[in-house]
Amino acid sequence: SSTTPITATLFPGDGIGPEIAESVKQVFKAADVPVEWEEHYVGTGIDPRTQSFLTWESLESVRRNRVGLKGPMATPIGKGHRSLNLTLRKELNLYANVRPCYSLPGYKTRYDDVNLVTIRENTEGEYSGLEHQVVRGVVESLKIITRTASLRVAEYAFHYAKANGRERVSAIHKANIMQKTDGLFLKCCREVAVKYPEITYEEVIIDNCCMMLVKNPALFDVLVMPNLYGDIISDLCAGLVGGLGLTPSCNIGEGGIALAEAVHGSAPDIAGKNMANPTALLLSSVMMLRHLNITDKADRIQNAIINTIAEGKHRTADLGGSSSTTNFTNAICDNL
Ligand code: NAI
Ligand code: MG
Repeated sequence: SSTTPITATLFPGDGIGPEIAESVKQVFKAADVPVEWEEHYVGTGIDPRTQSFLTWESLESVRRNRVGLKGPMATPIGKGHRSLNLTLRKELNLYANVRPCYSLPGYKTRYDDVNLVTIRENTEGEYSGLEHQVVRGVVESLKIITRTASLRVAEYAFHYAKANGRERVSAIHKANIMQKTDGLFLKCCREVAVKYPEITYEEVIIDNCCMMLVKNPALFDVLVMPNLYGDIISDLCAGLVGGLGLTPSCNIGEGGIALAEAVHGSAPDIAGKNMANPTALLLSSVMMLRHLNITDKADRIQNAIINTIAEGKHRTADLGGSSSTTNFTNAICDNL
């Protein structure tokens, strides 16, 4: 076609990242997607301008292109520099992380009716990066909740629900204990909820939410929550539909920036073995295409993935199959 290609930033990332990023590149080529990748790797030393291994040039690339796809980035524990993921989210103001989670037709788990979306506040909470030792043997971590960020993510959740024909938004919290922080988060959700009378609003305490999700995930539609809860709940949700190999996400930033990424991490236990399931990153790339309104290609790729998994001939090990990443990717390309 004559469509002018769109330039998007690609971070292959660490661990299984480069292997699954290769799948995305292959599938995009096979589907003739009008996207040109600008690839950026994690640096080998700390860039003083980002105070992390993330290079300034890579941040500039996302700022310029306003759209991108990122593979997982490993965060070494206790190395004293800023997490790459936190740096990206803070520097680019990626305030909402949207994590759809749905039962895949043809891949059976205990449920066949999961169809929910977790919307995670992505810039503050316990992930504000404010931890220090008070005195030896006592450490402190600050959970920051602001009215600005809470309203912003609540607005996004209700807007998303309305735009996507969803009926209910559940705010997930622990305001009975975290009265000030989660209390403020809830207050903001309520303020936004009254502007959307057509959407049912409810509040669910996080522990009860976990129980309900495991018992009957169909009870949930859109869930909005502070950062740490969103991180944990979205892995739980991934488990409901077949695991982390399947669940995509997209980080939404101010000014319409979108950086899609899988929910999972760098999976060091299977890295370099051509075993990883590229579905989560592929479905993330589909979210990126939907953000760009390249709907025909998005549908085509999504259907090819779903059909390949449903056929059952080519599945990766996490889904009980014996296909390699490359065999599975080839099968998707055949099904396009
Ligand atoms: P993980 O998500 O990397 O792995 C958890 C389990 O799921 C492992 O058994 C892994 O083999 C499996 N798994 C994950 N993705 C898979 C895929 N695509 N196909 C098949 N199996 C898959 O979580 P873990 O091990 O706790 O974290 C590893 C590293 O990743 C850490 O350094 C962590 O900080 C980082 N991480 C990065 C994230 C990001 O970049 N957004 C998100 C989560 C973790
Ligand atoms: Mg996580």
